[in-house]
Amino acid sequence: SDLIHQAAQAIRSANKIAILTGAGVSKESGVPTFRDALDGLWAKYNPEELATPMAFHKNPKLVWDWYQFRRELVSQAKPNPGHVALAEIEKRYPRTVVITQNVDDLHEQAGSKNIIHLHGNIAESKCLANCKGTPTIIDIEAFEWDREQGPPACPHCGEAVRPNVVWFHEMLPEADLERAYAVSLACDLMIVVGTSGLVNPAGTLPKIAREYPDLPAKIVEVNPDYSMVTPIADIKLEAPSGEILPEVIEVLDTLDK
Ligand code: OAD
Repeated sequence: SDLIHQAAQAIRSANKIAILTGAGVSKESGVPTFRDALDGLWAKYNPEELATPMAFHKNPKLVWDWYQFRRELVSQAKPNPGHVALAEIEKRYPRTVVITQNVDDLHEQAGSKNIIHLHGNIAESKCLANCKGTPTIIDIEAFEWDREQGPPACPHCGEAVRPNVVWFHEMLPEADLERAYAVSLACDLMIVVGTSGLVNPAGTLPKIAREYPDLPAKIVEVNPDYSMVTPIADIKLEAPSGEILPEVIEVLDTLDK
């Protein structure tokens, strides 16, 4: 509980807060993480066979159907107390920005407003060729196609339609990445929740927050396990985010009395 107090004090005295989240923050909402050995998404599938442009080119139906399966999972998920607590921090400290690697919309559903999606949004689809600009979002509910065949064809150019998410070997959306770097440099506190820190460039953001600006940011990590962020975390809350973040809010309530 001393660490929870320290985390609450760090939030209270921060000027600009960045919150970096990964799949762990959505786990208690029933959305699988990527690398959890037991029930992670990758436990059943090899990511290189699914989340890459080559995989989609080789077998569009396999990749499309896998994302339809994940979309179903995400659409049934609800924000958990961890998402709600993070939205509460933004309500109390409006200069807070959420940088998420997650492609679900649970931060939005929980009430967070300032959100940067580094890896896209699974609920959206786009033309493979981005024929009308980057990204060319396609509303797949607006037309019928033979779903047994896999993805629909872009109504503008006929190319395949794909999920609007970042695959391995792909560039991140440039404007979002630029903004994430700027937010990481400018913050004096970064709360890192539920990420292994294994995937870059997202994984470099805590190091950037801590090392580059003249005012190094304090790092608070929320993760029941060890991660790539743990070695540079000033405060480590080793517990599920859905359990411990509400406790941080409770302490903030007593401090703000
Ligand atoms: P990972 O599955 O790599 O890591 C999830 C982290 O969440 C692990 O460190 C777990 O210990 C932690 N965790 C599990 N349950 C938790 C809980 N209840 N509360 C807090 N933390 C918990 O997922 P990411 O780090 O998000 O990239 O993976 C990063 C990227 O790799 C993903 O965005 C995806 C994947 O390839 C793309 O889709 C481009």
